[in-house]
Amino acid sequence: MSTIMVASAKGGVGKSTLCVGLGKIFAEKGHKTLLVDMDIGVRSLDLLLNVAEKTVYNWGDVILNNCDPSKALIGITPNLSLLPAPLFLSEEYTAESVKKLVECYKDKFEFIILDAPAGVESGFKLSLKASEKCIIVSTPDPVSIRAASSAASLVRKNGINDVRLVLNRFNKKQHKSLCVDDVVDSVTARFLGIVPESNDIALTAIGEELPYDSKGNMAYLRITKRLLGENVPFRIKNI
Ligand SMILES: Nc1ncnc2c1ncn2[C@@H]1O[C@H](COP(=O)(O)OP(=O)(O)O)[C@@H](O)[C@H]1O
Ligand SMILES: [Mg+2]
Repeated sequence: MSTIMVASAKGGVGKSTLCVGLGKIFAEKGHKTLLVDMDIGVRSLDLLLNVAEKTVYNWGDVILNNCDPSKALIGITPNLSLLPAPLFLSEEYTAESVKKLVECYKDKFEFIILDAPAGVESGFKLSLKASEKCIIVSTPDPVSIRAASSAASLVRKNGINDVRLVLNRFNKKQHKSLCVDDVVDSVTARFLGIVPESNDIALTAIGEELPYDSKGNMAYLRITKRLLGENVPFRIKNI
């Protein structure tokens, strides 16, 4: 069982898209996977998964005892479920109550992926205690890298030592002078993978399926394999 928080200090870098991409692959490989939307008020995973109209309950209802933990889940595929975010903040949502919430699902799922919001407040802070690992997402631009670096150090300060970096929206031509090692050093996170800038991935924002053999899906596949402990060498030519 792994509980993984996906974070960055910056919005729009591809956290939610990555959560869905990785979640679908884990599920296809037979691993029971739960995606938890931690973006209170601005939830997005229900839209990316085409189930917005099925959303009745959310994890706030579980914490507030309005429904059973299982009732708040939305089944996407036999191995993939979504736990939507509440629309409003409540004082009852604390790092401790979110930790307990996640524990309710630990027996049912092998991977629990928490999609943190932009910034390092509310949903980010609420996710820390519940998570064992963290994936920091950054795009190759300096502002995003700086934000990733501060998110990584905050995560570490909160006791999460397994912090990995995904470099998203990498464009071979545009970023040919970028030294990935330097990025990894400045973010101080173990490197987990590079995801290319990809039109196929962009289309998942409107609910399109990512073609299996697309470069984007292959990048997600390599990342899931590394998370499963396989030794997948990093080669920039694959991007
Ligand atoms: N690798 C990629 N290539 C092209 N577009 C991407 C890629 N990753 C994410 N996007 C797009 O970037 C936008 C922001 O992604 P999103 O996952 O919502 O970011 P975040 O959750 O970090 O705010 C979306 O329109 C998404 O489709
Ligand atoms: Mg998001």
